[in-house]
Amino acid sequence: MEQYNWRDRLFESLSFPTLLLTPDMVVTAANQKFLDKFGYREEELIGKHCNQVLCKTEEPCPKSTCPIYHTLNEKRGASEIIEITGPDGQEVYEDRVCSPIFDEKGDVSYIMLSLRDVTRTKLLELELRKTNEFLENIIASSVSAIIVADMKGVIMVMNESARKLFGYTENVAVGKSIAEYLYTPGGARSVMKKLRSPDYGGVGKLHTTEMTVIHSSGEEIPVEMNASIIYQDGREIATMGIYTDLRPKIAIERKLKEAERIKIMQSNKMASLGHLAAGVAHEINNPLSGILIDASLILEELEQDSPLRKQVEDIVADTNRCKEIVKNLLAYSRQTEFKKEVLNINGVIEQAFAFLREHALLQNITVHKEFSSSMLICEGDNNQLIQVFTNMIINATQAMDGKGAITIRASKEKAEGKIYVEISDTGCGIPKDNIPKIFEPFFTTKEEGKGTGLGLSTVRDILEKHGGNITVKYTCPEGTTFLIELPLVKVDEETLI
Ligand SMILES: Nc1ncnc2c1ncn2[C@@H]1O[C@H](COP(=O)(O)OP(=O)(O)OP(=O)(O)O)[C@@H](O)[C@H]1O
Ligand SMILES: [Mg+2]
Repeated sequence: MEQYNWRDRLFESLSFPTLLLTPDMVVTAANQKFLDKFGYREEELIGKHCNQVLCKTEEPCPKSTCPIYHTLNEKRGASEIIEITGPDGQEVYEDRVCSPIFDEKGDVSYIMLSLRDVTRTKLLELELRKTNEFLENIIASSVSAIIVADMKGVIMVMNESARKLFGYTENVAVGKSIAEYLYTPGGARSVMKKLRSPDYGGVGKLHTTEMTVIHSSGEEIPVEMNASIIYQDGREIATMGIYTDLRPKIAIERKLKEAERIKIMQSNKMASLGHLAAGVAHEINNPLSGILIDASLILEELEQDSPLRKQVEDIVADTNRCKEIVKNLLAYSRQTEFKKEVLNINGVIEQAFAFLREHALLQNITVHKEFSSSMLICEGDNNQLIQVFTNMIINATQAMDGKGAITIRASKEKAEGKIYVEISDTGCGIPKDNIPKIFEPFFTTKEEGKGTGLGLSTVRDILEKHGGNITVKYTCPEGTTFLIELPLVKVDEETLI
């Protein structure tokens, strides 16, 4: 009798709401904790099926998630955490723990089902899992190649970028030894030595260092590496390495060096071509003058209706054309003479227009000048800069076939220390493929006899000598805008007026 009371008290004193169920899952008793928590009287529960009480449904619960079913089937305790909605609408996690009570034959005669509220633990666990997933995502999605290894050098994490760099798939890489698979002989030891030394960024840290790693194909890859030791409670537990592939950088450096070499070769070639052109032009100039004088004299002597007149006129015109080419060549090669003076760019542009005033090409052209009201002071050679603008204006008029509008805008940007001159025309535009070529000497699209192709290369060379440059700002079949930049000289403008 005493033993019975003791058992009875045991059931009542359990600190979790608990039901006693028969093997066919019918409630035979409920402890006070259960009645208090859910507001039942015991008579209301006894005889009811557990799914009516716990799951509020007439349908039996699915066997796979039912701990009572598992307890009956496997004759041992089982539990299942389920998510339910609490009385105030909040999500609650309940651990349903089943313990079998056996009869003398070892069969399950009753099942004790306790309900434990594990919401706090479960929410903490979910929070922790989210944080872990977040951290894992950061590593996984990083564009830097990251590898984490334990203190024996066995790979624990290899993110996608690292897998790409080293040429491994995840399941192949994880568990492999860094020293054996990824580093050159002695590489891993040298990294660890540096990591533990105070000289490479502090103990436990290795600031950017260059090294060679090995791809799964055996190829050696130059990389930049940062590394650190990960500590837990002061103990070394892992190392983390971040690698950057240096191959693209090396390839670009190589290309730049090659481009630089080609440029130097090109400019040497152009310099000798310039010398040659100047020499030839100089030698040809005198005989040309002779031909011109003689041909002009013959022309004067000829009768108006002479059958030779047309041919001699052609000789004079062609000789004049040759002299024009010679003049251009000499101007191109004479750029070394440089007279430096302080100039107002607005004034230089005006002089270029004055110089071209009588030029037939400008007769049907409207010119818009939009000059900055303040002076645009630069230092340079007045004649050479006049040549820059005359060449630009002539090109613009030729592109418009003598009809259209030229707009010249001149301004300065004090903060950048620059003078900007934009020359726009309403001409034919420059085809995209020609843009890189137009500044090359002797590149011309003009018909034979109309252009030597030296105009823009002269312009560019003069501007570069002045510390400036020229670019095609915009071009389309309706017109082109060139942009000229020159260094602005900072002077007290008052003293110049
Ligand atoms: N404003 C422009 N609009 C369209 N095309 C242009 C313009 N300026 C230059 N170009 C193109 O660039 C080419 C090179 O110009 P560049 O001044 O160097 O030589 P050119 O005018 O042909 O001959 P040169 O100036 O020696 O008489 C031109 O033949 C033309 O195709
Ligand atoms: Mg030209």
